[in-house]
Amino acid sequence: MSLLSRLAPSLARGYRHTAMGAANTLGIRSFHGTLRARLAADTAPASLAGIRAANLQKTLTTTPKPLLPKEELVFGHSFSDHMLTVNWTASAGWGKPEIKPYGPLSLDPSCSVFHYAFECFEGLKAYRDQSGNIRLFRPDKNMERMNQSAARLYLPQFDGKEVIECIKELLRTDARWVPEGKGYSLYLRPTLISTENTLGVHRANKAMLYVITSPCGPYFKTGFKAIGLYCDESNVRAWPGGVGNRKLGANYAPSVGPQVAAEKKGYQQVLWTIGEDHELMEVGTMNMFVYWRNELGELELITPPLDDGTILPGVTRDSILELTRAWGEFKVTEGKVNMKQIVKASNEGRLLEVFGAGTACVVTPVKRIHFKGSDYNIPLDPANPESQAGPITDRIYKTLFGIQYGKVPSKWSVVV
Ligand SMILES: Cc1ncc(COP(=O)(O)O)c(C=O)c1O
Repeated sequence: MSLLSRLAPSLARGYRHTAMGAANTLGIRSFHGTLRARLAADTAPASLAGIRAANLQKTLTTTPKPLLPKEELVFGHSFSDHMLTVNWTASAGWGKPEIKPYGPLSLDPSCSVFHYAFECFEGLKAYRDQSGNIRLFRPDKNMERMNQSAARLYLPQFDGKEVIECIKELLRTDARWVPEGKGYSLYLRPTLISTENTLGVHRANKAMLYVITSPCGPYFKTGFKAIGLYCDESNVRAWPGGVGNRKLGANYAPSVGPQVAAEKKGYQQVLWTIGEDHELMEVGTMNMFVYWRNELGELELITPPLDDGTILPGVTRDSILELTRAWGEFKVTEGKVNMKQIVKASNEGRLLEVFGAGTACVVTPVKRIHFKGSDYNIPLDPANPESQAGPITDRIYKTLFGIQYGKVPSKWSVVV
């Protein structure tokens, strides 16, 4: 637990005590100051008690489930034996974390998560390395992002380090659920919901953090399969000042209709853009990267920037930026790119590779983009017409995959 979160409860109590005392001695003029101070203290939900891995309680299932044969694994369809839960109340803070048998939650139909989407989540994977160890990839980044999502919903924050310790224990408990083999992993879904039973739209006074896990197979079972993107001109995924940069459930349900429409037209994913210039945003639920020779003739890997709050700060995105900057072989930019520039680069033979990036796939190569009635083809690997990925996409994939499975040494891979 961080020093700050350990001190937070006593600081908050001390602060209120001092402010009240001041109001009593200085009279009514100070009362307004006190009120302001109280309101200020209320603008962020201070968790009174923090989550403490040392308090973890464990109840094991008496009916362990059989493991599915690996070839039958479908992403997100089957779940391990146990889950982690921690309850929170505004008056007491976080309760004791519990590992218990996986099972339904009992929530009142009035619960505000069902009505106003008080929900945020994370997605990360546990990998089994060649020596049988279980590894996580940069779980601190997921905890950091989850706290940012929680803050946007005015849900309680937590000490990410403590939650990672609880998650490690969940993984040790369900170790047999972490499949072996190239591309296999156990997907982890940390989730934070309001559990307040009310129809009023206001901040939650009760919440629950839980983590469930689901075994999954390789995203590309028979090697890469490059995808086609349909640039959706009528729907926008996120906008400046909105919540596209936070991992809220509310961002995902509205993307399903456009996704189905793109599939019906023969494209695998939606290319999300914004504004009259159709600035690139994301590919389905992945961050987007373009590798091209830019108008100055420089080789450049470019991805949309995080500055206007429309792009999810992907862990894979961040890793690719750091990795390729360390390679030092081409320019690496977080910058805006629009469809006019993409079309021009494509027509001038400067568009070399395009890919999506995210935890599920690491990278997904893109072979064509549909925009305003035309398809723009992306060469993938000009040296090998059979290839389903360009050389940079492939190299990034192999490096990150190697780190995740402990073959390439890296501080990003955390042994459980
Ligand atoms: C909208 C969106 N963008 C990007 C990503 C990629 O993020 P990450 O690399 O952390 O998985 C995700 C996946 O979670 C996503 O949902």
